[in-house]
Amino acid sequence: MELLDGRALSKQIKSEIAKEVDLLKATGKDIPHLAAILVGENPASESYVRNKVRSCEEVGFESTLIRKDESITEQELLEIVDRLNANDDVHGFIVQLPLPRHIDPIKVTLRIDPKKDVDGFHPNNFGKMAQGLDCFLPATPYGILLLLERAGIETNGKHIVVMGRSNIVGTPISILLSRKSNVGNATVSLTHSRTKNLTEFTKKADIIIAALGIPEFLKADMVKEGVVIVDVGINRVEDSSKKRGYRLVGDVDFEGVGAKASHITPVPGGVGPMTVTALMLNTLKAVKMVD
Ligand code: GUN
Repeated sequence: MELLDGRALSKQIKSEIAKEVDLLKATGKDIPHLAAILVGENPASESYVRNKVRSCEEVGFESTLIRKDESITEQELLEIVDRLNANDDVHGFIVQLPLPRHIDPIKVTLRIDPKKDVDGFHPNNFGKMAQGLDCFLPATPYGILLLLERAGIETNGKHIVVMGRSNIVGTPISILLSRKSNVGNATVSLTHSRTKNLTEFTKKADIIIAALGIPEFLKADMVKEGVVIVDVGINRVEDSSKKRGYRLVGDVDFEGVGAKASHITPVPGGVGPMTVTALMLNTLKAVKMVD
């Protein structure tokens, strides 16, 4: 079994980005600037946004973190989005999800200027993605494509089973992998909570993308020998032996499934860092679009 090491690949891609930033600086061009809006105190969101800001520092981007209390109104948040849309110093920005229940995430996403939507969540970008047009790809699916591509995993003609149909992972990655393109041309089954006989699908899969948000759901008896596993899950499970009181596990039983897999992503250190790196690539793309 070979590890698909997202941490190592991220490091490599980030050093490539840093070189491009040096070139932008040397030629007097704009330095990419990413802003992130974080509402409330969700510990997982705090950690993700921290990683995004740290990555900006690593590649030489400017970053701005806008923190707001959970009591912020929807209108106030929309006004912040409007200000970022109008601010020429900011090339791209994200609103970290989930948002508090009194704020409609769809309304907020629709308000983001698609040219600055480096998360690729706006329907304008999503629609372009579905038609194979130039756009910001959603960060996690983009990171998965890079991981498969750089590891030399063939997708052409393979049967890929995607577990989970979210707007930010399952649905877009199923579209991307079935497109007529590099790291595509696969036959994709998009499975979800209403899928009957799920194991019949997973047992036939050459590649499985697990993005359902259930800790260690995929077990060894559900997969075939030699399967490639991409585990998108990041779940906190209680663990009193750890100082922080929890440990992170994916949607896949790493020990059991790993013993049968040809390749598998670890959690943490697999898809997570690739998502952040894809966001950096999108921000670099955003600054180039302005020039
Ligand atoms: N919440 C979980 N994943 C993401 C992501 O990729 N972007 C944003 N903005 N929020 C998230």
